[in-house]
Amino acid sequence: MAKDFVRLSKEWFDKQAPVYDETDTILYSKYGKISCKYIYDYLKDKEYKNLLDIGCGTGYLINMLSKEKDAEYVGLDLSSEMIKQANNKNIKNAKFIEGKSDELPFEDNTFDIVTCSQSFHHYPETNKPLQEALRVLRKGGLYILSDTGVGPFEIVGVKFDDFLYRCFATTGDCNVSYLKKMKKDMMQNGFEIVQAEKVTTFIYAIVGKK
Ligand SMILES: C[S@@+](CC[C@H](N)C(=O)[O-])C[C@H]1O[C@@H](n2cnc3c(N)ncnc32)[C@H](O)[C@@H]1O
Repeated sequence: MAKDFVRLSKEWFDKQAPVYDETDTILYSKYGKISCKYIYDYLKDKEYKNLLDIGCGTGYLINMLSKEKDAEYVGLDLSSEMIKQANNKNIKNAKFIEGKSDELPFEDNTFDIVTCSQSFHHYPETNKPLQEALRVLRKGGLYILSDTGVGPFEIVGVKFDDFLYRCFATTGDCNVSYLKKMKKDMMQNGFEIVQAEKVTTFIYAIVGKK
């Protein structure tokens, strides 16, 4: 029977939540901090009125951004415990809600910016989350995705990781990708690519425009 990766992700992050921010290792917040910093730097000179962070975790990115820029911030995450940690930060102009990346509870054309840091590899399917991000963006809005991929190993790496995740992983990881493939997936789902680069050997970042 196919694994329920969404349930596994929720259980994994509900457990991690109380110590996520302070545990700076690969299985916890190390890569998230790198991706959030990339997104933060990218947004420094951009104008926006509102921003949605999908898979927001403990609100790490929104917390950084809200200190820099006055805007309306919304964080959405599968894990109620991650949302609790985000709410505990009492971030000005921010609200955090439970939800799933493939069923966003927002009207079409709502946000100037949508971000997604180190969450996409937990989404069992690629197209619906990309279509949902595009749907809730305003025309001209930006989707900034940063995630861990298989770096230079590309097709072979994806097949290998996919096998490991489907057979052994209990962490909800299930959708490994790489820069070239995700760029193509984003274009096929209607994004215009503005920027695409490796942040480290295994972390990539792509900015798509609606
Ligand atoms: C590695 S954490 C990253 C958290 C944060 N974005 C960061 O960079 O620090 C991945 C987050 O994605 C969330 N997540 C996983 N699958 C999800 C889904 N289908 N919809 C929404 N959130 C999801 C998890 O609950 C978790 O909080």
